Amino acid sequence: MPSRPESDHGPMWGPALPGEAGAMSYHDPARIPAGAPERRASPTLPSPILPSPTLPPPTTTSVPDPTRDLVARGLVMTYGRSGASAGPPALGGVDVTVRAGESVAVMGPSGSGKTTLLHVLAGILRPTGGQVLWRGRDVARMSDRDRTVLRRKDFGFVFQQGMLLPELPAIENVALPLMLGGVSRSEATARAATLFAPLGLSGLEKRRPGELSGGQAQRVAIARALVARPGVVFADEPTGALDQTTSAEVMQHLTQLAAHTGASLVVVTHDENVARWCHGVVRVRDGRLAGGSTTPLPSGVTR
Ligand SMILES: Nc1ncnc2c1ncn2[C@@H]1O[C@H](COP(=O)(O)OP(=O)(O)OP(=O)(O)O)[C@@H](O)[C@H]1O
Ligand SMILES: [Mg+2]
Repeated sequence: MPSRPESDHGPMWGPALPGEAGAMSYHDPARIPAGAPERRASPTLPSPILPSPTLPPPTTTSVPDPTRDLVARGLVMTYGRSGASAGPPALGGVDVTVRAGESVAVMGPSGSGKTTLLHVLAGILRPTGGQVLWRGRDVARMSDRDRTVLRRKDFGFVFQQGMLLPELPAIENVALPLMLGGVSRSEATARAATLFAPLGLSGLEKRRPGELSGGQAQRVAIARALVARPGVVFADEPTGALDQTTSAEVMQHLTQLAAHTGASLVVVTHDENVARWCHGVVRVRDGRLAGGSTTPLPSGVTR
């Protein structure tokens, strides 16, 4: 398993900017000592099949770099019309930084705002307030047209149920984002084909989604999300319909391919075993951050 790319930053979360009171960092030395050993696989994972996820090295600097990182500040999201009829905000002032090349799991109870946060970060929803800075631009303030282009070029998406087009063979499902971006059919399918072997999908190129298992379909969805070499991949419960072993395989492929291409990952999940594959965890409760941490490991397992 290729190791994760080394970056000089780690994901951060918290209501304050670094250096301000209340800022929390993934690389809090109290949480991860310098020189921490490689993260081991959970005993629940069949480690002979699945190599251990690894943690990035601890970093010494925690200042976000808005030219490389995805930086969200003060996100507020109120659905429906404003005023007395509006309910409590789905997001009530959230700050998150997703470091370039690193992965963050978003966890929290049902209805806590995880999907809303993902959609706002990804430019699918325009927030009621706050900023989402991506490569120096405020996604929240872009025109609809610019956000559409951004989502196609810079961001990739994986959903709970693949959302593959049932009438297209797997190879064309993967090639589609490239073709929508103007790449010729022959070049797009050639580029798509290169992803099938690394994802363990060789020989399945011509199958339609209905002829694939759930895990295979999610790996096709991962290929589609990464084929255009996005800067960030957003995944909402990507393993929500899979059993534990298949979930682990899908997370292994997702994190490996993201690391290989240098993409950051934001993964919404209810499953601590899924979160273990990520560099850090952001916990959401009632639309607010409830803290971030490295994922707790079972007793006897060390990082
Ligand atoms: N389109 C919408 N219109 C109105 N309210 C919405 C809409 N989408 C979500 N909400 C509300 O916003 C809050 C957060 O919803 P969200 O879908 O972000 O939660 P979640 O953490 O993803 O939950 P789950 O784990 O069940 O998927 C909930 O109270 C939900 O009812
Ligand atoms: Mg959700």
